[in-house]
Amino acid sequence: MNLKGRSFLTLKDFTQEEISYLLELSADLKAKKKKGITGNRLKGKNIALIFEKPSTRTRCSFTIGCVDEGGHPEYLGREDIQLGYKESIEDTARVLGRMFDGIEFRGFSQETVEKLAKYSKVPVWNGLTDTYHPTQILADFLTLQEQFGHLNGLKLVFVGDGRNNMANSLMIGCAKMGVSFVILAPEALYPDKELVKECEQYAKESGSFIKVTSNLEEVQGADALYTDVWCSMGEEDKAAERVALLRPYQVNKDLMQKTGKDTSILLHCLPAVKGNEVTEEIFEKYADVIFDEAENRMHTIKAVMVATLGE
Ligand code: CP
Ligand code: NVA
Repeated sequence: MNLKGRSFLTLKDFTQEEISYLLELSADLKAKKKKGITGNRLKGKNIALIFEKPSTRTRCSFTIGCVDEGGHPEYLGREDIQLGYKESIEDTARVLGRMFDGIEFRGFSQETVEKLAKYSKVPVWNGLTDTYHPTQILADFLTLQEQFGHLNGLKLVFVGDGRNNMANSLMIGCAKMGVSFVILAPEALYPDKELVKECEQYAKESGSFIKVTSNLEEVQGADALYTDVWCSMGEEDKAAERVALLRPYQVNKDLMQKTGKDTSILLHCLPAVKGNEVTEEIFEKYADVIFDEAENRMHTIKAVMVATLGE
């Protein structure tokens, strides 16, 4: 499988085989790291890490993943560069493309990350936008594979803000990988209809299904529930409205029981607001797997850099 030179902007651009390959590479890099073996596949590569929004996991994953493979990461925060206010995205992209071998971008607009890829002409990796969070999905899938041994045929239910970056990217990823996917959300927070339609087509090809519902009983049979904050970065002013809308959709003991399976797990991309989208009790019950998932950010992000840029 050759992904050299490719950007990683949304999972829409990747086939089931390519996603499986990235997961295999991640598992391999993880096993090696556990034995103390790191590599030099990014030796001589300079990697720009642009962050318009804050980050713990994504920033650390790109930094450690890059250094483990012998590369040089350069953190460029919102206040550090002129991107988008003193200099156009196109111009900053052309400058960075002359100096760096790869660029990570976390920020608001999906259009920005796409422009960076178009104008820099080096691989660009989406570290989260308002619309998508594709590297997170690789970590989620690696965790599901570790827990269940496979992805195909699983049922995953996302509970919460059904139109945020996580719901969108999980929907694309699950549909591509044969995971049946339910978005459980109040109608006011249903995902974009066009995206659902597109994902239904992927699901048809992989033999899974997509369902968008407000009915809590639909968690029945879920292998995993997934939740995320009720207010994503940049939406802090919506807090009161969201609490009112989403309170019935909290992941708590009752909702977990509705799966009817004692093997069901909970995933969370983190950071978590305990007492909102998940109770402290349930979060702690599944903490081991949730922190495996957080660790897997690093192994999967390393795999994306190695696959698209590595020697
Ligand atoms: N899950 C995730 O992207 O975490 P950070 O915001 O800390 O990077
Ligand atoms: N939906 C969340 C994800 C954080 C990883 C946000 O955008 O803030």
